[in-house]
Amino acid sequence: MKKRLFSGIQPSGDVHIGNYLGAIKNWVNLIDNYDCIFCIVDYHAITVDYDPVDMQKRITNAVAVNVAAGLNPERCIIFVQSHVPEHTELAWILNTITPMGHLERMTQFKEKAQQHAANINAGLFNYPVLQSADILLYKAEVVPVGADQVQHIELAREVARKFNMCYGNVFPEPHVILSSAPRIMGLDAKTKMSKSLNNYISLVEPPESIWKKLSVAVTDENRKRRIDPGNPEICNIFALHKHFSTQEQIEWSAKGCRTAGIGCLECKKVLSDNIVKELTPIREKAEKLLNDKDYVLNVLQTGAKKCREIATQTMAEVRAKLGLR
Ligand code: TRP
Repeated sequence: MKKRLFSGIQPSGDVHIGNYLGAIKNWVNLIDNYDCIFCIVDYHAITVDYDPVDMQKRITNAVAVNVAAGLNPERCIIFVQSHVPEHTELAWILNTITPMGHLERMTQFKEKAQQHAANINAGLFNYPVLQSADILLYKAEVVPVGADQVQHIELAREVARKFNMCYGNVFPEPHVILSSAPRIMGLDAKTKMSKSLNNYISLVEPPESIWKKLSVAVTDENRKRRIDPGNPEICNIFALHKHFSTQEQIEWSAKGCRTAGIGCLECKKVLSDNIVKELTPIREKAEKLLNDKDYVLNVLQTGAKKCREIATQTMAEVRAKLGLR
């Protein structure tokens, strides 16, 4: 029997190449080796201000793009968190064994509280408890995440341990699988690629737009003129070459940069062509899936049904241990 894997996907309207390299591409490989469940975490998304009007569209897009990028719903489960009410039920129970002090230490809470100072709600504070419930509800043993989520998975381990100690053994302690891709920087080369900073290339970005964004992207700032040599290791365009180009092109770009043998624009053009080549099938497939009105709906219905079967079983065990009927 394969071990169970669980991960959460934010319902973002626009999935970018940072998400792709940092998460989705790894997941596609993991599907072979684990029994995989991927959850669109809408209950997490509502802990910060958002527009309810486009929530469903964001969910649908997230599903279509992730499927188009390789998460084949015939080989893994994809579902929406709020379609399985047991997530919040278990989260409530786990709340009662989670020390406030642990939640106060969470870096993501501190950061988000700063960013959203006008809306520091109890849900934002309890966010990691819901995340623990997501994982434990399916007794998942592995959780692929980026470095920023490790602290949350550590909490899930502690919560599992404490539950087992207080009420009897139910949950395995989940392990992190750390994403192997380094942090993908935004086109400004200053901060992590992110939707809110508008420094990204979307997975469904049309070719013209990919080139437009890359042509003004920041490179090694020492290369002010065409004849100035640069250092590829500090150039963000070179960093992207490593993910999208052939070994030969990567060497060509590094050498050309060091010796001023090529210009930045020339180097960007090759990168742009490669990104277009890799993203075009994804964009076309996503468009096709979105045009089929029932496709995403069906994927999510099937996913929710399978998850509820597992979730009801776990909750029956949990309730019995707690002395609830
Ligand atoms: N908090 C995660 C993030 O922001 C998303 C998430 C929610 C998640 N529940 C999860 C990740 C369970 C892994 C497991 O990226």
